[in-house]
Amino acid sequence: MSDQFIAAFQSFARSEGIRTPDLGQPMALLAEALGRVSRLDPVERPNVPVVENHLTDSLEMAEGPVGDLLRSVLPDVGWAQPYPEHVGEPDMDALRAGYGYALIVGSLENSCRGDASPLYTSEEILAGAVLHGPRVAYPSHVHRATEVYWVASGTADWQKGDSWSRHGPGAAILHDTGVRHATVTGDEPTLLLFAWVTDPHSIPVIVRL
Ligand SMILES: [Fe+2]
Repeated sequence: MSDQFIAAFQSFARSEGIRTPDLGQPMALLAEALGRVSRLDPVERPNVPVVENHLTDSLEMAEGPVGDLLRSVLPDVGWAQPYPEHVGEPDMDALRAGYGYALIVGSLENSCRGDASPLYTSEEILAGAVLHGPRVAYPSHVHRATEVYWVASGTADWQKGDSWSRHGPGAAILHDTGVRHATVTGDEPTLLLFAWVTDPHSIPVIVRL
């Protein structure tokens, strides 16, 4: 489809596949699937507390092409809190209170799960934004989807498998199918772009050892 944002996202995906060799295959999948999305009619745009508190500053600080992509699309999105099925569990309540995500590309089926409606439909990929508030832990989890996160602003600690590393603006973080991962923010919020380039209907499972 011809759409300024989608064209920019495709161009970004292709350049990321060249910049980072590990992303070659995932970015080829992403760029191809973006060529087959359909724009949806605008609907209501729900908000969540972390977005009201931190999005303006996070977007202002957002760096590089990821920042440009997010600034162009986020005014149109709606936000949601994840994991409604875990309400009442203390660590997940803390996550939900300090975390928001927006679907940019997704299936209408996702909306039935409690997500805000995406801007574009696809049955092949899922892509969106995450605003992760300060001092919030997203516990270890796994899913079938191959996932890529890009950091637009903020520095956080990231778990992949058994190792932890710190990533800030400009980082691209790949989680292959089934790899356990987690994110813990410090004193600043973290604004992210993410894409699931396989298995977009897979369900994340929290891992508690
Ligand atoms: Fe994930």
